[in-house]
Amino acid sequence: MAEDLTITAGTKEEQYEAILPQIRGLLHGEPDLIANLANISAALKEQFGWLWVGFYLVKNEELVLGPFQGPVACTRIRKGRGVCGTSWATGKTLIVADVEAFPGHIACSSLSRSEIVVPLIFDDKVMGVLDVDSVELSTFDETDQKFLEEIVQLLSFLESN
Ligand code: SME
Repeated sequence: MAEDLTITAGTKEEQYEAILPQIRGLLHGEPDLIANLANISAALKEQFGWLWVGFYLVKNEELVLGPFQGPVACTRIRKGRGVCGTSWATGKTLIVADVEAFPGHIACSSLSRSEIVVPLIFDDKVMGVLDVDSVELSTFDETDQKFLEEIVQLLSFLESN
């Protein structure tokens, strides 16, 4: 696997196009879920510099904090709570332009202004979520949704874990 990332400038699409094959390379031949979630978090954080990038995993009917990059975060989120718990309950990606306008948003960091949450769906079951927070309003759009959904799909080969 590659040990150094090449960080790319350019449009959002160009940045995703450049980081995607590198993430694929990081996952190649590595069957451990936690190791792969850790490297995805690190690669996205390094490329985009977002406030917080990480995963919550479904354990005993709660989302429990998994590998992430950024400030310390809430450790447990119940189904239907906050942006993450809503994405889990609905199985849908949620783009939140202004977290203060999202009813029930869980403020792990007061610096977070906008957010995207992508569910990890394997075998029709949500096993966790990818959560990304930004210090700016309206950071995320359909481009982020498309590429982040593609990135979490790269994990589907680990579905038996
Ligand atoms: N804001 C999220 C909680 C997780 S932190 O942002 C890392 C939510 O409302 O679910």
